Amino acid sequence: MELKTLNEVEINLVTSSKINQVDFENLTFGNIFTDHMLVCDYKNGAWQMPSIVPYAPFMIDPSAKVFHYGQAIFEGMKAYKDQQDAVWLFRPDENYKRFNKSATRMAMPEVPETVFLGGLKKLLEVDREWVRKGKGNTLYIRPFMIATGHGVIAAPSQEYRFMIILSPAKSYYSGEVKVLIAEHYSRAANGGIGAAKAAGNYSAQFYPTKLANEQGFQQIIWTDDATHTKLEEAGTMNVFFRINDTLLTAPTSERILDGVTRKSVIELAKRENIDVEVRSVLVDELVEAAKNGSLKEIFGAGTAAVINPIVGFSYLGTYYELPKLENAIALEIKEKLTNIQYKLADDTFGWTV
Ligand code: COI
Repeated sequence: MELKTLNEVEINLVTSSKINQVDFENLTFGNIFTDHMLVCDYKNGAWQMPSIVPYAPFMIDPSAKVFHYGQAIFEGMKAYKDQQDAVWLFRPDENYKRFNKSATRMAMPEVPETVFLGGLKKLLEVDREWVRKGKGNTLYIRPFMIATGHGVIAAPSQEYRFMIILSPAKSYYSGEVKVLIAEHYSRAANGGIGAAKAAGNYSAQFYPTKLANEQGFQQIIWTDDATHTKLEEAGTMNVFFRINDTLLTAPTSERILDGVTRKSVIELAKRENIDVEVRSVLVDELVEAAKNGSLKEIFGAGTAAVINPIVGFSYLGTYYELPKLENAIALEIKEKLTNIQYKLADDTFGWTV
């Protein structure tokens, strides 16, 4: 059955909402979920009708391929509420396109737009009370797909489940972010899955990030796997470097995620007449700039992290602290970006939906 519209989506509402039990002022990122979730199964070569059901655990065969071969992808998006109580998405078609690119790379079926975007809009209508008004309040959206097919033969699954869950969120990082520049471990390699939002890209970072955490660093800035000389991304966010008055960021590649926030920062910075260069940035160049004082800022850009200033980095055992600036570009861009997302400024780009 090929879905054409979502008019017949089955909606099974909770009998009592848990919203009153939530302390929206004190949220740990990604820890609390709304009352409902969207579920859509793929079997016999076709997507079935999606349904919106109460958020709850579900049964899955222990031999499902997601457990054994990690056939799993996801997206990260956010919903925002404006002063008139309307709910907005930010560039959702970009997430939809990237999701299906990830699906193709992981030998999974593409999800129809009616299910991904249409289903999301229906789910947001149902759980719209969970999107809180006020800058800084968001509803984090996690669409994902897992291989549910039974059997441990190492081949793509014949069955999948697509789901969307929603989590009220404030900031991703609490406190200062210091980073380590990767010298040994790698996040991705050419020809690999680094550009896909595949679950395994994240779990592969857990061990080196745990080692970095033990040394007092919250994140790693990954370098290219072949030479460890080029700066790539931070795993939970893309990265920007400001040397003098130029913003630098690595071009997307097979190893780097094509971040929606990253591309929005580039477009916004250009509109603000900030000099932006999308090119390989060398570790040596960064260290030299830190030593001679021309390195002004490093910041991460991602849906969950928004724009996150980095206070310092360590490389080959030396820690380089960044200056504390009054007029940081990171904060200027963050303000402009979030004003668009919360409809506090004109969206001249047409990004909000
Ligand atoms: C996002 O920014 O939405 C991501 O998917 C990153 C994740 C580690 C929270």
